[in-house]
Amino acid sequence: MADRVRQPRRNERFFGGSGLSMRVLVVGQGGREHALCWKLAQSPSVTRVFCAPGNTGTALEATNVDISATDIAGLVRFAKQERIDLAVIGPEAPLVLGVSDAFTLEKIPVFGPSRIASELEGSKVFAKELMRLAAVPTAEAKSFTDADAAIAYVGERESTPLVVKADGLAQGKGVTVCADKAQALEAIERIMRAREFGDAGKRVVIEERLDGEEASILAISDGTTIVPLETAQDHKAAFDDDLGPNTGGMGAYSPAPLVTPTMMDQIIGQILVPTVHAMNRQKRPFKGVLYAGLMMTHQGPKVLEFNVRFGDPEAQPLLMRLKSDLGLLLHATATGTLAELPPLEWDPRPSVCVVMAAAGYPGDYQKGATIRGLDEAAKVPDVKVFHAGTAKRGNDVVANGGRVLGVTAVGANIGAAKLQAYQAVKQIRWDGAWCRKDISDKARKHEQIAADEPAGQ
Ligand code: AMP
Ligand code: GLY
Repeated sequence: MADRVRQPRRNERFFGGSGLSMRVLVVGQGGREHALCWKLAQSPSVTRVFCAPGNTGTALEATNVDISATDIAGLVRFAKQERIDLAVIGPEAPLVLGVSDAFTLEKIPVFGPSRIASELEGSKVFAKELMRLAAVPTAEAKSFTDADAAIAYVGERESTPLVVKADGLAQGKGVTVCADKAQALEAIERIMRAREFGDAGKRVVIEERLDGEEASILAISDGTTIVPLETAQDHKAAFDDDLGPNTGGMGAYSPAPLVTPTMMDQIIGQILVPTVHAMNRQKRPFKGVLYAGLMMTHQGPKVLEFNVRFGDPEAQPLLMRLKSDLGLLLHATATGTLAELPPLEWDPRPSVCVVMAAAGYPGDYQKGATIRGLDEAAKVPDVKVFHAGTAKRGNDVVANGGRVLGVTAVGANIGAAKLQAYQAVKQIRWDGAWCRKDISDKARKHEQIAADEPAGQ
């Protein structure tokens, strides 16, 4: 049972070296995986890092292996051949397909939940039901398997704003926040009848729209112990001032001053602990990163969604601040020994990650433009440029995805971190490159509010 949130004690065994010297396989190919490879390569417990399939950035920290992230048999075969001590799964798709179960079957420690535990992200209907059972605060919702019933339900509703969600994975595009009934009906039509997301649209969840500001809370759990990470905030909208279409995330920063220590206690007590407990009761023990996408409403934090992996781009600023040995942390999670680890150590300085995207993203985007200035950007102090969608063409690094780079910096305060990140962004250019200019401005607004409050409030 998840009976405690760990304020771990110091454990001699983990000081002065863990004795581990692991060969690690990271699965995935985005900015999150570059950050994972970078941090693992620095971990005293890790001797060798492989990344399947990786990108041009992961190749700087690890050995790329040409195996797709969803080729489960291929990944396990490679891990056995190479005597891998720990597999670390980045994206949701292989988790939902059962990649962790395949590693577990071969007795290879794996960081990432089992197939049935990954349903927390893979099925919004399952996640809603679990939250109902565990009394976790979330938007009022109803699930439908029948399009006519869903349409009738929308018809009966008063004018409450609604959100329509495809049940399954839809690459972040399965959610429609509806301005009116017509939009809700259109979303049902697209998801359930036109099957825009295939079988992910067999069922829908229709829920009330929540208002407030969003935050990302990530916690590591081995099913028994929960270790919350520092707070973070994503920027989902494409353009400045949160305008434009939703994206995979145009930038992130950590910590998120919006989440006060009191709120964090509430999030741990009302959301993280009950969720891990409920997963145990369902015989789906959760081992990996539990990512709660939250709306901070007037009634307190409510869950918008659960993910079962590190956020991308949240992982980049979070891992940039983590000072502890990431290899040890992930291995302890995989082997159920998190309670034995000392407390995590963090760089107290805030970090900011600015995503540079290709022309057209989040719609159809151009690939193949040569990226210049990476070496100059790398010289900006306190900056790390994480690659997301890049590839090599001869000696050139070219844009090969919608989100191309995550330029990440730490600074004495959030303003300084932002300045450093954008200094590095200025060095980098390719045809059509663009980014938001206001990443982390929301944090500064909250810092200002806190500073303006009279002492003792
Ligand atoms: P998801 O794809 O589940 O991460 O949801 C994408 C985004 O849709 C979230 O980050 C929110 O911005 C928005 N969203 C989801 N559910 C709601 C809701 N009930 N109320 C308002 N916005 C929502
Ligand atoms: N940054 C949002 C996500 O990883 O889903």
